[in-house]
Amino acid sequence: MSTVIVSKEDYERQKKYVAKLIPLMEDRMVFLGRPLTYFIRTYGCQLNEADSEKIAGILESIGMIRWNEEDEDTRPDFLFLNTCTIRENAEDRLYGNLGAYKKWREGNKALFIGVCGCMMKQSHNVDKIKKSFPFVDCVFGPADIHRVPEYIYHRLIRHRKLYQVSEEDYLPEDLEIPISHERKFRALIPIMYGCNNYCTYCIVPYTRGRERSRSSEAILQQLHQIAELGYKEILLLGQNVNSYGKDRPGEMTFAQLLAASAEITSFSRIRFMTSHPKDISEEVLLTMQKYPNIERHLHLPMQSGSSRILKEMNRHYDQEQYLKTALRFRELIPEGTISTDIIVGFPGETEEDFEETLRVMRIVKFDNAFTFQYSIRPGTKAAAYENQIPPYVVKERFGRLTELQNALCADSNNSVLGTVEEILIEGQSATAKHVLTGRTNSNRLVNFTIPDGTVYKGQTLHPNDASFNANALEGELCEVRFTEARPFSIEGELVRLIDD
Ligand code: SAH
Ligand code: SF4
Ligand code: F3S
Repeated sequence: MSTVIVSKEDYERQKKYVAKLIPLMEDRMVFLGRPLTYFIRTYGCQLNEADSEKIAGILESIGMIRWNEEDEDTRPDFLFLNTCTIRENAEDRLYGNLGAYKKWREGNKALFIGVCGCMMKQSHNVDKIKKSFPFVDCVFGPADIHRVPEYIYHRLIRHRKLYQVSEEDYLPEDLEIPISHERKFRALIPIMYGCNNYCTYCIVPYTRGRERSRSSEAILQQLHQIAELGYKEILLLGQNVNSYGKDRPGEMTFAQLLAASAEITSFSRIRFMTSHPKDISEEVLLTMQKYPNIERHLHLPMQSGSSRILKEMNRHYDQEQYLKTALRFRELIPEGTISTDIIVGFPGETEEDFEETLRVMRIVKFDNAFTFQYSIRPGTKAAAYENQIPPYVVKERFGRLTELQNALCADSNNSVLGTVEEILIEGQSATAKHVLTGRTNSNRLVNFTIPDGTVYKGQTLHPNDASFNANALEGELCEVRFTEARPFSIEGELVRLIDD
């Protein structure tokens, strides 16, 4: 299917549904004597999260508030499951959870359950939901998010279940859709949708359709709005951001868009994902070097270190090209970090191929890596390959891969001990209530403590008091000294809060 730009009339139609839903929701709230709540569970990547932020924005625009997951005594009124099918285990999680959510429905017949996301682009999953999970009210696809008001209205008024997964590759204009960003300091900004690359293992081109870029004018307008609202971090998103604009004649390149974003100086962290090694340009690396508010971090998925396997994967680069880009980044931005994605056990991978992967890992010294065992995705080219690797071999290699990567992560974190860096605070850490968490501009995860009596914006902070709320500092900048390296994080102590 080719790209279909969502028309002004379509948005107007949705706005009419929103206007009709608002009084309906109000009536229900009066009847219940409490606000209506929603909960969205996101199973996939950051693009999936960006879709969830749109669903959240739409639900809030009709008067709902986010359900507090920690509130064990209540259940949400509207539940959306935004699915992912990148690996088999992502699918298994959905079906496991649906069993549990069925109980929620039994406890509240009015609970609305919507299932959307990449799994719904595969008809066998929609069939399975129809057959085995008939309590699901509404199923729609990843390109249909802008139609959520219509789907809710249809279900509530016509009392009919709705299974609508569009074939079209819609290009929505995000300025027309209300968005509620999950974090108050970070805005996810899709700059393009879909993927044209057809890596032989990957399902995404089938679920997300053809590559289609938003206009840079609209993206920059959105960025200015976000900046005015006080967001410090933006995440420019696409499956292959380096091919941004290629489908729009006369459009900016990704490097130009990145530079234009960095000119908005109130952003202190400009991040982007994902860079495909075949398309990343010297210009992008030079732009990163030039602007200090662009993250000192490059996520550059390698997938395999073996040129032979890379060819079988249809990645369009070889080991030498990959190394060239990674090492050029190290040269231009020596304080930066590189992370990657690696798949073990792609069909036909030999011990020698696997050792090439380990070899490249040692050369690049990845600061972080997301490592995956190859998962057969029905419908992809590699699923039909006959030389699939036995699971016990995949597991054994995966063990060696993680062992090496853990050591590289530890080396990377050890290399910055004793130094002081700026941290963007993300809130309370997972470890303890008085410990804060945040990231450096090179995307290192840091957990740190603040001394009792620290004064911030006229308030004296007492981190060990029961009333201390670390999340109140979410989105603030501070300087932290690194004291101890952990395998996946660094411990530190506050030097000063930056009160600007
Ligand atoms: N567009 C991004 C990747 C998106 S998917 C890119 O090209 O880099 C995120 C990661 O999931 C991929 O980088 C890959 O490492 C992994 N992945 C994709 N399909 C997979 C499969 N069938 N089995 C295991 N891992 C897979
Ligand atoms: Fe999948 Fe390849 Fe597209 Fe990434 S570039 S989403 S791995 S097909
Ligand atoms: Fe998953 Fe779809 Fe993203 S398959 S990884 S949610 S594009």
